[in-house]
Amino acid sequence: MGAGYVGGPTMAVIAKMCPKILVTVVDLSQKQIDAWNSDSLPIYEPGLEEVVKVGRGRGNLVFSTEIEKSIAEADVVFISVNTPTKTAGIGAGRAANVKNCELCARTIAKVSTSDKIVVEKSTVPVRTSDAVRSVLEHGANPGVKFQVLSNPEFLAEGTAVDDLERPSRVLLGSLQSDAGLKACQVVANVYANWVPREKILTTNLWSSELGKLVANAMLAQRVSSVNSISALCEATGANIAEISRSCGTDPRIGPKFLQASVGFGGSCFQKDILNLVYLCESYGLNECAEYWNWVVKMNDYQKSRFSLKIVRSMFNTVTGKKIALFGFAFKKDTGDTRETAAAFVARDLIEEQAKVHVYDPQVSREVMMMEFNYTLGLSEATKPGFGDYVITETDPYEAADGAHAIAVVTEWDEFKTLDYQKLYDSMSKPAFIFDGRNIIDAPKCREIGFQVYSIGKPVTMT
Ligand code: NAI
Repeated sequence: MGAGYVGGPTMAVIAKMCPKILVTVVDLSQKQIDAWNSDSLPIYEPGLEEVVKVGRGRGNLVFSTEIEKSIAEADVVFISVNTPTKTAGIGAGRAANVKNCELCARTIAKVSTSDKIVVEKSTVPVRTSDAVRSVLEHGANPGVKFQVLSNPEFLAEGTAVDDLERPSRVLLGSLQSDAGLKACQVVANVYANWVPREKILTTNLWSSELGKLVANAMLAQRVSSVNSISALCEATGANIAEISRSCGTDPRIGPKFLQASVGFGGSCFQKDILNLVYLCESYGLNECAEYWNWVVKMNDYQKSRFSLKIVRSMFNTVTGKKIALFGFAFKKDTGDTRETAAAFVARDLIEEQAKVHVYDPQVSREVMMMEFNYTLGLSEATKPGFGDYVITETDPYEAADGAHAIAVVTEWDEFKTLDYQKLYDSMSKPAFIFDGRNIIDAPKCREIGFQVYSIGKPVTMT
């Protein structure tokens, strides 16, 4: 249930790896299902098209809106629906909204006439499986039994197919009863078709649910930690790349996730940390809540620090100036824009009345405007004239033509190999580059004549 960024790729890989299993992916949205059945998939992920074609061609991967019929026929049901941060009511702004999970559980209970294993794949607050089990048991048809498992997903957008085909681990939580452990083995056997047994970790339900929140919190914490040091580097003349290199060489720290940037985005990190913060608060663990909340606060600081640097460097005014925003997706190799740092930077620049020309190889204007609307409450309706300040471009050279500055906000590989001399020649002078991902060749661009600002790096290297 749920044909989104997780449900689609996850189920497509199960279908590819398990020819004898019929996988039906259902969703409420007809538009989403039609796209999965077409040549133009609803999400961009390297390698996904091929995987989907294997299952669709073989006939064991089906996308459908016939939710009730598909569930009635299934032995195992994965719930892979969105669990966004609540926007109103108790815990608003922090707690996860699990209403979609509950709705799924109610539908499963209503239509099931045979026993089923129900697997929570969505990221949920710890002990949600208890609620799901209660809904299932109270709504069950006579004689029908359910087992609830937790199987959080660790894929990262942009590398989803690879992550699913070669996962670092598969986490499966169950009740430690005979029936719970048996159900756990059924789903473990599905994964064992391609995942080595030692990578299939089984545990109890609560540890599995919490394990996912903690994994995301720790990853985001590394980003916020390195970003906090990037501010100190800029103040002192140290270089964040050198700090990351020397710290990352320590095997106890490791080199990954030590890249300074404009800040993390995506639908998961902030949501899951806030969820963790809310859980801590709910148990009266206020210091623990505050500790994790700072990971999010540091990220907000990093995003606004970047916008501020742009405005300050451009003589304290960007009013009426054209600024090219390179990238809008929250990271490379995805078209997903949820919580992207780019939206915050664009918002800040537009508030200063800059004209922001955005180029992203995967993001359409429609999706971009939806992101402004959902995350920031900015739209033509809320702020007349807003759309005139955001201009979407299909070519990076057009975006930069006549611009005063380029701001790189997504680390798309193609930004590394653009003709920066050509870009410079077409821009207003002095021409600035603000590299929010530290991916461009700063010395070369300085030689061309650009004023280059990178994250956590001195303007001139000594
Ligand atoms: P998404 O928003 O891309 O997809 C969710 C889909 O569920 C939507 O298409 C929606 O129409 C459908 N849906 C909602 N309620 C439904 C219902 N009652 N019946 C059938 N379909 C329903 O969300 P995404 O990104 O796939 O995330 C799903 C879950 O996985 C979330 O809990 C998220 O935190 C978690 N997750 C997401 C990752 C990511 O990188 N996006 C990675 C790991 C976990």
